[in-house]
Amino acid sequence: MDLLLSTPRICWWRVLFLLSIFQDYLSSMLDCPPTCSCTPTEIYCNKSDNGKFFPLLALQDTGSNGNNSNNIQDLFKNITSIHIENWTGLQTLRDVDMELYTGLQNLTIMNCNLRQIHARAFAQNPHLRYINLSKNPLTLLSWQLFQNLQLSELRLDGVEFTCGCDVRWVQLWQQRAQAGLHTQQLYCHTGTSRIPLQAMDISHCDLPDISVSHKNLTLIEGANVVVTCNGSGAPLPEVDWTVSGLHSINTHQSSVRPNVHSIKLTLVNVSREDNGFILTCIAENVVGMTNASIHLTIHYPPAILHLAEPERQHDTCIQFTVRGSPQPSLRWLFNGKELRQSQFVRTEVDDYQDYLEGCLVFRNPTHQNNGNYTLVATNFLGTTTKMVYGHFLSAPFFYEDYEYGTPTPPLSGTHQSDEDTFGVSIAVGLAGFACVLLIVLFVLINKYGRRSKFGMKGPVAVISGEEDSASPLHHVNHGILTPCGLDAGPDAVVIGMTRIPVIENPQYFRHGHNCNKPTTYVQHVKRRDIVLKRELGEGAFGKVFLAECYNLSPTKDKTLVAVKTLKDPTLAARKDFQREAELLTNLQHEHIVRFYGVCVDGDPLIMVFEYMKHGDLNKFLRAHGPDAMVLVDGQPLQSSGELGLSQMLHIATQIASGMVYLASQHFVHRDLATRNCLVGNGLLVKIGDFGMSRDIYSADYYRVGGQTMLPIRWMTPESIMYRKFSTESDVWSFGVILWEIFTYGKQPWHQLSNTEVIECTMQGQVLDRPRICPKEVYDIMLGCWQREPQQRLNIKDIQKILYAMGKATPAYLDILG
Ligand SMILES: *[C@@H]1O[C@H](CO)[C@@H](O)[C@H](O)[C@H]1NC(C)=O
Ligand SMILES: *[C@@H]1O[C@H](CO)[C@@H](O)[C@H](O)[C@H]1NC(C)=O
Ligand SMILES: *[C@@H]1O[C@H](CO)[C@@H](O)[C@H](O)[C@H]1NC(C)=O
Ligand SMILES: *[C@@H]1O[C@H](CO)[C@@H](O)[C@H](O)[C@H]1NC(C)=O
Ligand SMILES: *[C@@H]1O[C@H](CO)[C@@H](O)[C@H](O)[C@H]1NC(C)=O
Ligand SMILES: *[C@@H]1O[C@H](CO)[C@@H](O)[C@H](O)[C@H]1NC(C)=O
Ligand SMILES: *[C@@H]1O[C@H](CO)[C@@H](O)[C@H](O)[C@H]1NC(C)=O
Ligand SMILES: *[C@@H]1O[C@H](CO)[C@@H](O)[C@H](O)[C@H]1NC(C)=O
Ligand SMILES: *[C@@H]1O[C@H](CO)[C@@H](O)[C@H](O)[C@H]1NC(C)=O
Ligand SMILES: *[C@@H]1O[C@H](CO)[C@@H](O)[C@H](O)[C@H]1NC(C)=O
Ligand SMILES: *[C@@H]1O[C@H](CO)[C@@H](O)[C@H](O)[C@H]1NC(C)=O
Repeated sequence: MDLLLSTPRICWWRVLFLLSIFQDYLSSMLDCPPTCSCTPTEIYCNKSDNGKFFPLLALQDTGSNGNNSNNIQDLFKNITSIHIENWTGLQTLRDVDMELYTGLQNLTIMNCNLRQIHARAFAQNPHLRYINLSKNPLTLLSWQLFQNLQLSELRLDGVEFTCGCDVRWVQLWQQRAQAGLHTQQLYCHTGTSRIPLQAMDISHCDLPDISVSHKNLTLIEGANVVVTCNGSGAPLPEVDWTVSGLHSINTHQSSVRPNVHSIKLTLVNVSREDNGFILTCIAENVVGMTNASIHLTIHYPPAILHLAEPERQHDTCIQFTVRGSPQPSLRWLFNGKELRQSQFVRTEVDDYQDYLEGCLVFRNPTHQNNGNYTLVATNFLGTTTKMVYGHFLSAPFFYEDYEYGTPTPPLSGTHQSDEDTFGVSIAVGLAGFACVLLIVLFVLINKYGRRSKFGMKGPVAVISGEEDSASPLHHVNHGILTPCGLDAGPDAVVIGMTRIPVIENPQYFRHGHNCNKPTTYVQHVKRRDIVLKRELGEGAFGKVFLAECYNLSPTKDKTLVAVKTLKDPTLAARKDFQREAELLTNLQHEHIVRFYGVCVDGDPLIMVFEYMKHGDLNKFLRAHGPDAMVLVDGQPLQSSGELGLSQMLHIATQIASGMVYLASQHFVHRDLATRNCLVGNGLLVKIGDFGMSRDIYSADYYRVGGQTMLPIRWMTPESIMYRKFSTESDVWSFGVILWEIFTYGKQPWHQLSNTEVIECTMQGQVLDRPRICPKEVYDIMLGCWQREPQQRLNIKDIQKILYAMGKATPAYLDILG
């Protein structure tokens, strides 16, 4: 659920960068030890040799370049297998011999003269699975050598140990059939004779016994406690508590009695961070190690860490995070009264350790759901509450007769719960929808001179375009919409029907209770006026076509348009469609893609947009970059060569200008990127999209949960972290757009995976200056990428600066590179 639970610890991009640079000459540096043969993964030394030392890959003199430790490590790491046979000089295996081969899996040192292995020899070789030490004059071997390895086989054929407690562990492993030792005939000698290891009988030599004072320990935060651990046995074991990762203040105290080694651990002021911690005590001697654990449970009163205003995700949701132990129970109050849960309002919760994360989910909320929501979290240690105001819709004027205060909308009963086929359900309330319908109806009724108060039937038939006029021309003013209708979803409205919430308008919705904004006229187009020509693309919602549209303009017979179709619309989809059309009708600007109207007589539903000849800006940039021929899928545009500086500035200025307009309308786009801008003739650029980005540019999105796809490479830390979107977060995205423009459409952070991008963004990393980008432009980018939203540049200022730069850029600067 939370994006940030699964991020890696390290930002790898520097490492990746270094590796890619050095990789080329790495392979030339491998030098095989004498009398061995080598491959990139194996060292094989089977010739007799008196070599005293373990074979190390020698490094060729790399001359002037001194810093290659990365490469050396990589080189050694790739060795998975080492085989040494008959090296009679090899008597000691040291930790320094082994430490560079960190990827080693198989090690054979056979028939050498190996007598001693240092205690930490395998400490840096965690991948060792197979070790063959056959036929070496080893007399001793410590189990600690292997304690952090998961050995599948340890071959010791022909090794003759000295009988004694020191090799008791080998006998135990044989008995337990560990590491294949049970299949080997092993012997030990007692000074005079050689006996099978199995037959060795030594008393007072066994695994330690261990006991701890508690099994489970339940404490209230702030308490103090002492736990003890006794280790006993022969030989008397060493005992220790492992406390790494423990938050509570702790001290050890050990004492030795004749047969018991005891260790006391004192915890002071236990912290809630230690809830669930497992305290482990370890006792070890030459025979082996035993351990025992105490499971800590820390109780503390609940706390509400986060309670957010309603936000659209899949459904509308009031997000919360609560922490407490034992797990608190949750209740909701709506305007001070117990909130009754139903299929329209319900709590969804995930738990993660002692965190409860969830949502109070609303299906199709209406103005009736507006009010104060109080979350009450309770466990035996206390109760905590927090309140948030939920605003969903403004009250439509003809609902004034209804009573406020019931959480369930009156019309919801008629709604099927799985009607919503859109990726993200849209938070338009039925009330808003009804508002629109009623006004439409009201107008129609007025037109026919009839008066019938609330006598509506078959609203869908009305909305889907039962045209009353015989005019073949386009129909203007068919639906007259009030701002109540427009207000329908606080943040659900979209440009070009992208399937996550794109635009929100908090101030507007806060104060939009009265209906005295100008009405919206959604233009209707006759189906027979639209002639489809070819498909331009397909998204999950339907297809986009190039079409000719007749009677659209009084001066032209027909106009080329892009039409977006909506296949198999459900009622919910129709509502979204209608609402989107209203929105688009209200967004008119020279740098927002022009919306002509809708066609709703029959299926599919159609939206008619201006056709932008060169398609999306990302494709256009790639087609006009240095790699144009390689990058454009099979169909290079009539490339007029690479874009120059003034052209890039011109593109950026136009987008900024569209954004200034969006900001003036208090619209937050949320998905600004070059893929969502369109290019027409004469380098005309407009913001807008046909909702196909998520299908065509799916690599630019990070799928969270089932349906939500987030453009994280364009997102601010606060959007990633808290899903906070604002005009300032759009400015950040604009900085990324600038970067895209100056890299000819490269994907931001293309060398990183999605989780790495999240990590880098949260750490405050920003994109590097593109090679051809002037410092002044990069300064704008940096101004967009200020971590604090209020410190980011204002889009108006950006637009002015870019415009001025464009004017001041002499043509000769257009030769970039
Ligand atoms: C290793 O030495 C043994 C005799 O000590 C010999 O039989 C064997 O063939 C030698 N192995 C190799 C690979 O040289
Ligand atoms: C050493 O191994 C190689 C291949 O692994 C083999 O061709 C060669 O005969 C072996 N040498 C001896 C002395 O066994
Ligand atoms: C090599 O790296 C070390 C530190 O990692 C640095 O101090 C030194 O200047 C570098 N030398 C060269 C030749 O790059
Ligand atoms: C190490 O192995 C990796 C993956 O198998 C490979 O990409 C890399 O080139 C290797 N490095 C060297 C120095 O051989
Ligand atoms: C290691 O040895 C095992 C058993 O002999 C063998 O199956 C495996 O392929 C070897 N792995 C490598 C990386 O040499
Ligand atoms: C391991 O040692 C045994 C002798 O104990 C030998 O027969 C076998 O070939 C060795 N395995 C490898 C992979 O060298
Ligand atoms: C540890 O040993 C001491 C003394 O022998 C004994 O009093 C105590 O109860 C033991 N504690 C545990 C947890 O076994
Ligand atoms: C200790 O607590 C754990 C988890 O709380 C539980 O699974 C286990 O059964 C408890 N054991 C005892 C002995 O109470
Ligand atoms: C106990 O720890 C809490 C924070 O975990 C701290 O606020 C409090 O002052 C500590 N109490 C004492 C007595 O140290
Ligand atoms: C405790 O012992 C068990 C088996 O005896 C082992 O799997 C586990 O890793 C040990 N735990 C620690 C912390 O060493
Ligand atoms: C909601 O809470 C605010 C602030 O506490 C209060 O002014 C308002 O009257 C409350 N509204 C309702 C409907 O209870």
